[in-house]
Amino acid sequence: MTNEIKEVWLSEEQINQRVEELAEILTEKYQDKDPLVVAVLNGSFMFCSDLLKKMNFPLELNFIKVSSYGNKTESSGNIQIDGGRIDMKDRNVLIVEDIIDSGNTLKKLSEYFAQLGAASVETVVLLDKPSRREADIEADYAGFKIADQFVVGYGLDYAQYYRNLPYIGILDTEKLNIE
Ligand code: PRP
Repeated sequence: MTNEIKEVWLSEEQINQRVEELAEILTEKYQDKDPLVVAVLNGSFMFCSDLLKKMNFPLELNFIKVSSYGNKTESSGNIQIDGGRIDMKDRNVLIVEDIIDSGNTLKKLSEYFAQLGAASVETVVLLDKPSRREADIEADYAGFKIADQFVVGYGLDYAQYYRNLPYIGILDTEKLNIE
């Protein structure tokens, strides 16, 4: 454990067990639906990878990058989607995210994919931070609820670092001198 992590909040084993459960639920729902899975970069890369390894049925996978403009610590609600062209028409779309925070990203993406003609749009997130919600949206499937703490690891970053940790840890913001 690096010394900027003050506590392991979710161990690798805890994450793995919950990802397994989510994969079972999603398999039940999607195994006959040929879903289009859309992973939102960068944060979802590890969660999506582990989740999909446990979903053993035909699915299409694509990636998009979403950038917020404005001050990211206070979500502006304006997002820009960079993903090339993905044909959503009549597809059952499953968006994969590491975290839902203000909800602005998932709200905008869900609405946009529906406009593009998706037959259905659902969302799966590993972490849900309900205390920070601004948009009127809940994830359809969520791994863990979390209070308003600064967590990193398993895809989540601080200044693009810590994404590679196999666990989710609470960052020692005092040691790093950040809010
Ligand atoms: C994070 C996360 C979600 C979004 C959630 O991405 O991966 O995409 O914020 O926040 P919201 O619910 O307030 O919209 P970030 O912009 O930090 O980029 P990253 O995935 O590259 O880390």
